[in-house]
Amino acid sequence: MRTDTPPTIYRQQYAAPAYRVEQVEMGFDLDPEDTRVATRSTLVRNPDSPEGDLVLHGHELRLVQIRMNGKVLSPGQYQLDGDTLRIAGAPHRVTLDIETALQPGRNTSLMGLYVSSGNFFTQCEAEGFRKITYFPDRPDVMAKYTVMLRADKARYPVLLGNGNLVEQGDLGDGRHYALWEDPFKKPSYLFALVAGNLVCQEEAFQLKSGREVLLQVWVEHGNLDKTQHAMDSLKNSIRWDEERFNLELDLDRFMIVAVGDFNMGAMENKGLNIFNTKYVLANPRIATDIDYANIEAVVGHEYFHNWTGNRVTCRDWFQLSLKEGLTVFRDQEFSADMIGSASGRAVKRIEDVRVLRQTQFPEDAGPMAHPVRPDSYIEINNFYTVTVYEKGAEVVRMYQTLLGRDGFNRGMALYFQRHDGQAVTCDDFRSAMADANRRDLSQFERWYSQAGTPHVSATGEYDAQARTYTLTLAQTCKPTPGQEQKLPFHIPVAVGLLDAGGHDMPLVQTPGAVAADAQTTAVLELTEAHQSFVFHQVGEYPVPSLLRNFSAPVVLSHDYTDAELAFLMEHDSDPFNRWEGGQRLATRRLLVLVDKLLLTDSAAQTFDGDAADAAAAMAASAGAPVAEQSALVSALRSTLRHTGLDPEFREVALTLPSETMLSEQMDVIHPHAIHRARQALRRVLAEQLREDLEAAYHDNQTPGPYSPDAQSAGKRGLKNLALSYLSELDDERTHALIQTQYDHAGNMTDRMAALTALVNSSAPGRQASLEHFYRDFEHEALVIDKWFTLQATERSTDVAAVRALARHPAFTLKNPNRVRSLVLAFCSSNPAQFHAADGSGYAFWAEHVIALNAINPQVAARLARALDRWRKYAPPLREKMRAALQRVADTPALSGDVLEVISKSLAN
Ligand code: TRP
Ligand code: ZN
Repeated sequence: MRTDTPPTIYRQQYAAPAYRVEQVEMGFDLDPEDTRVATRSTLVRNPDSPEGDLVLHGHELRLVQIRMNGKVLSPGQYQLDGDTLRIAGAPHRVTLDIETALQPGRNTSLMGLYVSSGNFFTQCEAEGFRKITYFPDRPDVMAKYTVMLRADKARYPVLLGNGNLVEQGDLGDGRHYALWEDPFKKPSYLFALVAGNLVCQEEAFQLKSGREVLLQVWVEHGNLDKTQHAMDSLKNSIRWDEERFNLELDLDRFMIVAVGDFNMGAMENKGLNIFNTKYVLANPRIATDIDYANIEAVVGHEYFHNWTGNRVTCRDWFQLSLKEGLTVFRDQEFSADMIGSASGRAVKRIEDVRVLRQTQFPEDAGPMAHPVRPDSYIEINNFYTVTVYEKGAEVVRMYQTLLGRDGFNRGMALYFQRHDGQAVTCDDFRSAMADANRRDLSQFERWYSQAGTPHVSATGEYDAQARTYTLTLAQTCKPTPGQEQKLPFHIPVAVGLLDAGGHDMPLVQTPGAVAADAQTTAVLELTEAHQSFVFHQVGEYPVPSLLRNFSAPVVLSHDYTDAELAFLMEHDSDPFNRWEGGQRLATRRLLVLVDKLLLTDSAAQTFDGDAADAAAAMAASAGAPVAEQSALVSALRSTLRHTGLDPEFREVALTLPSETMLSEQMDVIHPHAIHRARQALRRVLAEQLREDLEAAYHDNQTPGPYSPDAQSAGKRGLKNLALSYLSELDDERTHALIQTQYDHAGNMTDRMAALTALVNSSAPGRQASLEHFYRDFEHEALVIDKWFTLQATERSTDVAAVRALARHPAFTLKNPNRVRSLVLAFCSSNPAQFHAADGSGYAFWAEHVIALNAINPQVAARLARALDRWRKYAPPLREKMRAALQRVADTPALSGDVLEVISKSLAN
């Protein structure tokens, strides 16, 4: 905590370290109240930096002693200034012996060394190692580590570190030790230790090369029945990286450890990945299909970091997307390959794009907008963002779209050939891609340096005489904080042309070429502000299919007619754009409805009323209620009936754009009108499609033992979407259907879906089922999180109700999962209630940001971002949001984390 303004760090100020570290030997005497850490580092002056002082970092540490080349340094012989310890005039070679004292039992920030359910864990990325000892805690300092762990044997029977276990034994006094050695050089942020009373599932696994490795998944007692899926995911990840990128596991032992108190998803510490329990523990009783898929993705993600992040790491934290964007891209490809089926892959792509549009596009348009490779930060923890991760992954995907899979693989191979064992930059990655393919990718650099989502508008012109179709693309990008002017991006736009029968036309871009040889999707490279592309031998007026498979992270506009959108929805060979057609159509209808509601409301001067009122208002004001929606209804009906389409595709096609998606389409956000419009349309769909929904419900049952495979999950997804629509009818027949599913559910996916439908209805069994669910899962923290989230996001949960939930004995601010499950879920996923007209939601938000700031700044700063878009809201709400932000800003002792978010929000 600080009272002064924390400094801003700039990318341009990068300077190589004055000293490199060759070897680190650490000894830990672990105790929650008084842990002693002895660190011996051998440093040598960096020949590229012959001048600077020796600089170490430390944060909230008690320095017991520091010795240089054997001699104790007195406070006059070094300078301590904030987090830096500086030694001037140190010799060329230095051995530092540093002893520090910590109280991990009191560490609520969950950074550095901390205790969770009585066990020790570490989290060092990005700058947590400096909470353990004084060290040059920056990723371009890579060293080999040997670590001795000592602790009470009864309380901490398991002692884990990075790399290989060299030796273990008893110390007498009831204490024991373990000595770990990591054979690879690594930056300090990849350091980890775990000590506690844990058990593991383990397996010997043979690599493609024939070498055998030991795989372990460590959990608390009582959880060994929930580790199989993580283990399977790990084995699949290892295989996949061998096959797709020819990258082999480089250690003899690879461990995953689950911990209940964790700030993020998981951490790729070398050989000792530490995971949030949410991304490890699963069995059919406690985990949903989505949980299973997330576990596979996160296990893959952390495993893939072993090469993209660990063997080749980041020079500085501005390069974070070098490892994160690339590794997210890799985990997305892994998940897609594990599904296999074309439509399953498309659905995975659709889900990833949905996340991008719903979370990253708003970030790019808001006060925290920053480039994939930021130029400055106050607190690096605030830059583990959807821009760095998800947009970063899109940037990596564009290389593959431009260069092809083989070209991309050549680039990856060159990247490792050049940089294995190094700490490098995003430019180094781009150079490897360019050089391996002899391509000029200099303009592509703007994807790293310019923030903001580019807008591409497309216009088409057909010349029947010349048989040409000219597609003109124009790009613009709005200013973002600190970046007024944007230069054109290098944008791959994948395009197809459909004939009147809905078939792909061969695309001939060179006059005179043979149409039969042509492909049906062309990747156009838009590099200028305005550019035209001509297609030849076009026999009839085409419908363009633009930005196929979402080939670039842009907003694409084209003045499609409703009929053309319905046509694409029905015929496009690109499944992503088939889905997109329906989403565009639904978005149009919904935005019209929102406008109508706003007109009606301003006449009536009221914002309350429910979806039924809205449906009535829609009927009254439109004059032709259902007829107006009929094009959309019939398009959705035929999608629902189209059994040739896989269930998972029908599910995403029938899901309406979220309230957040709709908000971002509006110049001024009216959360209540948006909510009511969407609910009204859901109700119209439920009424109009009732029989088809019931049929889909019954045709997509998955009897027999539960399996999380994509096919079964797809069926459950469609079935439960049907149930969710039917629940809008809120009649006895659907109540019975829902209650029956709840009572007989054989897995958490079905149980959760039924409970959600029950809770969002007026069914008589609503309260009893909620209580039953709680009792049933009282001892499963991850399920209790679901129980909180379900209520936090339920449409009738108002601020008073969420406050009551926050007083529930199972609620605590100390556990990040619990905070996310209730407070964050309410503030970011229940817009209609959070934006209560009296501003009470914002008061709830401010209180929790302030309370969390004192416990866990990283989690507080995440919550702080829930008000990012305040300037976009209708004036009465906007003013109340500003006041709440100001209230937080005026709070004394704000962490740098929260201060950065709040001050940028108020400034921009
Ligand atoms: N590097 C981790 C990942 O992407 C995430 C991470 C970064 C993290 N900082 C963290 C996790 C702090 C926990 C706490 O997988
Ligand atoms: Zn990562």
